[in-house]
Amino acid sequence: MILVTGAGGNVGSELTGILTRDGHPVRALVRTPRPLPDGVEGVAGDLNEPASLKPALAGVRAVFLLGGYDDLPGALAVMRDEGVEQVTLLSSRSVVGGHSGNAVAGMHRAAEASVRASELAWTFLRASGFMSNTLRWIPGLRAGDVVREPFAEVPVATIDPYDIAAVAAESLTTPGHEGRAYALTGPEALLPADRLRVLGELLGRDLRLEPLPDTEGEFDDSEVTSTVQDLTGQAPRPFATWARTHLAAFR
Ligand SMILES: NC(=O)c1ccc[n+]([C@@H]2O[C@H](COP(=O)([O-])OP(=O)(O)OC[C@H]3O[C@@H](n4cnc5c(N)ncnc54)[C@H](OP(=O)(O)O)[C@@H]3O)[C@@H](O)[C@H]2O)c1
Repeated sequence: MILVTGAGGNVGSELTGILTRDGHPVRALVRTPRPLPDGVEGVAGDLNEPASLKPALAGVRAVFLLGGYDDLPGALAVMRDEGVEQVTLLSSRSVVGGHSGNAVAGMHRAAEASVRASELAWTFLRASGFMSNTLRWIPGLRAGDVVREPFAEVPVATIDPYDIAAVAAESLTTPGHEGRAYALTGPEALLPADRLRVLGELLGRDLRLEPLPDTEGEFDDSEVTSTVQDLTGQAPRPFATWARTHLAAFR
């Protein structure tokens, strides 16, 4: 049995889909009960309350884990005590490139340190910026044709959460990934204006980017890696594919 945390999120929902499609038994950790895809069992639990995870961990061999919760060492200790053998942690490329004062990088570094210290077998998925961050533009696009965005001149090799999930599924179901930290990116580095142009073409709208002042130093998230292709045999999906798949959300 594989437990997916964040199963309602961008990556977790893709992961439960891939695992059930491939015939693996999947359980979703949910905070509040809700309908789940066929074949996915939902069990209540809260990552901020380690003891609450016990029912969801019965019979679980491997966990897909998000970081950033109150007591990750406590949650990992409960997993180990309940018989979990391996964890795949969703991390970020900022752990390598982010400066020491960056809160997001600090959160991911702390999560990786907790997992390393847990005695569980681990794999880290150090992802670049998600294509799904584009969903943040929806309120602006409802109000008009202008998107206001900081870091307008910073290219990012954005990744489709589907591709992160595809690598996560490999790491959870095939051997050879223990102790590996994978840098995962999409196929090309894009500026926000590049993503907006693709979106505008698909929507048939003339959209415009208005740069906002950059809030804090950004790390370099522009380098493209071949890891998704190497591990899944599939090229990472371009932004246009992600945008087409999620176009209804922008209409
Ligand atoms: N966005 C990026 O560019 C980027 C880049 C690298 C890494 N990351 C990392 O990726 C992760 C986010 O992944 P995502 O986009 O797939 O997630 P998401 O869409 O933001 O969804 C978060 C999920 O976590 C669940 N959750 C929140 N608090 C919880 C708790 N206390 N206990 C149990 N579950 C809880 C939510 O469940 P409910 O349905 O109950 O709310 C939801 O399913 C974060 O750790 C982030 O730092 C993001």
